[in-house]
Amino acid sequence: MSDSQYWIDALGLIKHPEGGYFQEKYRCPETVSLNTGTPDQKRNLASSIYFLLPGNEVSAFHRLRYDEIWYYHAGSPLIIYMIDDHGKLTEHKLGLNAGQNEWPQVVVPRGNIFGAIVCQPESYTLIGCVVAPGFDYQDFELLPRKMLLGQYPQYRELILKLTRAEK
Ligand code: GUN
Repeated sequence: MSDSQYWIDALGLIKHPEGGYFQEKYRCPETVSLNTGTPDQKRNLASSIYFLLPGNEVSAFHRLRYDEIWYYHAGSPLIIYMIDDHGKLTEHKLGLNAGQNEWPQVVVPRGNIFGAIVCQPESYTLIGCVVAPGFDYQDFELLPRKMLLGQYPQYRELILKLTRAEK
């Protein structure tokens, strides 16, 4: 059994639309009503998931309405690519080697377009993702390749890696 399969079975992970596998572990029972502009404005105060990305998959470019924090748990370091409101691209390495520019926690600011790649393609990365207010698919957008290529032609190679071919 591969290490990825071990974690998928042991933690009961299921496929995520952005790539990889996840399982929600916590959802705060308290809720708040927010000005989201979406049909349902009620959100839990926070939520947390396990997320596993096998080295032969990517976390495809997506965007969240609220800040998300990624926590390294196991496996290979991983690179998170973020494109901010001004079109600036930055890379953030999630891992335990703090002396080598790896960080055990990385914050993805709300509204950034972001995706991730496992540094060792034969391995995997297991992380935790916390979002507050709690995750809701109304706050999640998977971004189409064509739109990103039109908006950010300077990042073509990366966009081709972090999006799926459109039919
Ligand atoms: N629950 C389902 N998908 C996600 C996600 O992408 N992030 C977080 N934090 N929770 C989720």
